Amino acid sequence: MPAIVIVGAQWGDEGKGKATDHLGSEVDYVVKFNGGNNAGHTVVIGEEKYALHLLPSGILTPGTTPVIGNGVVVDIDVLFHEIEGLESRGIDTSRLKLSANAHVIADYNRTLDKVAERFLGSRKIGTTGRGIGPTYADKMNRIGIRVQDLFDEKILRAKVEGALELKGQVLTKIYNRRAPEVEQTVEELLAHADRLAPYVCDTGLLLGQALDRDEVVLLEAGQATLLDVDHGTYPFVTSSSATSGGACTGSGIPPTRIDQVIAIAKAYTTRVGEGPFPTELEDENGEFLRKAGWEYGTTTGRPRRCGWFDTVITRYANRVNGVTDFVLTKLDTLTGLERLPVCVAYDVNGVRHDEMPVNQTDFHHATPIYEYLPGWTEDISGARDFSELPKAAKEYVEFAEEQSGARISVIGVGPEREQAIVRHPLR
Ligand code: IMP
Repeated sequence: MPAIVIVGAQWGDEGKGKATDHLGSEVDYVVKFNGGNNAGHTVVIGEEKYALHLLPSGILTPGTTPVIGNGVVVDIDVLFHEIEGLESRGIDTSRLKLSANAHVIADYNRTLDKVAERFLGSRKIGTTGRGIGPTYADKMNRIGIRVQDLFDEKILRAKVEGALELKGQVLTKIYNRRAPEVEQTVEELLAHADRLAPYVCDTGLLLGQALDRDEVVLLEAGQATLLDVDHGTYPFVTSSSATSGGACTGSGIPPTRIDQVIAIAKAYTTRVGEGPFPTELEDENGEFLRKAGWEYGTTTGRPRRCGWFDTVITRYANRVNGVTDFVLTKLDTLTGLERLPVCVAYDVNGVRHDEMPVNQTDFHHATPIYEYLPGWTEDISGARDFSELPKAAKEYVEFAEEQSGARISVIGVGPEREQAIVRHPLR
């Protein structure tokens, strides 16, 4: 039966965790299929606030099985740190399943991520420094370490040796760092094997069988469309497939089983790290959005870059992901702004672009073409029905919907789970 994909429509931090959690009690499995602990979901339940980086947000919903798929890169220390943190607050994590084929972030890849960024200087990507890129590079280079390798010491040692033959040289000769010892790396990785074993399985098989039993599987993307390694603003992207297609390769579920794609878009736009951002605001409006929306990274604490809503991007996200429903989050953040510019196209050297420019240089030179909508001053955080929104807020949502090309089914009006307006139930 149904597999549902949730993706970010912009550059991440759109509030996917909240949307996933919203669906939580209706789904049997929540699967993380890409990325690693570069992600950051904040989920607020009652008085409690949970910041998750690696664990799928379904871990908070009793009865839901959280799954870390083969497309994820796993920092095992972080995994146990999060498990322990939740257990200490009384959350049962024993249902977690981890793919035997997921790749493991070795210590040398965390080091390489950080030193490579320093080495790049002004060309840096602004990565989270968690070793994500180098670990995916190893996967593609076929020198990666997988979860299953931790259960065969001989194979693990051979693989670490193979990886360090190359990476040790890179660390010492290019970056002037000490290369780690093979034995030390092997020991560090083996230290966790026994504890990890109960979680590890063939998650593709598990999910296929669940779908055969008509159970609901929710596939939750890390990062977002414009950070996707293929479809994002390359090279200022993450190293994994964060769009709906990645949900298949990263989980082992075939495309024919996916029948709903929910994209989360913030009512304005944010980005962390480097890279082009046409509607970015470096004035008091940007500061307003950052303060009102509390736009600071969950993973790194970095202040997020803020800008107006960009429908060229949401239209693109619709096309790339095959969006069936948008969830528009943080509409309440815009309350109090007199006039709301919405980007509908770009001007690139005098030429109008209604769609994403195909080449990177054009996107760097894109100037937004805005339509201006009236703002509202009424507090909307208590609205639970679309009819309760002020006229200007309704018009804003309807305009965003028309320009983005798929229905806006849910609107977020505050951080709590209940602070949402459901126009079309997601299930
Ligand atoms: P990496 O994923 O650490 O390699 O970083 C690559 C780029 O993706 C950087 O610009 C990061 O700031 C960005 N990035 C990675 N994860 C997230 C996320 O969860 N939200 C927003 N940006 C992210």
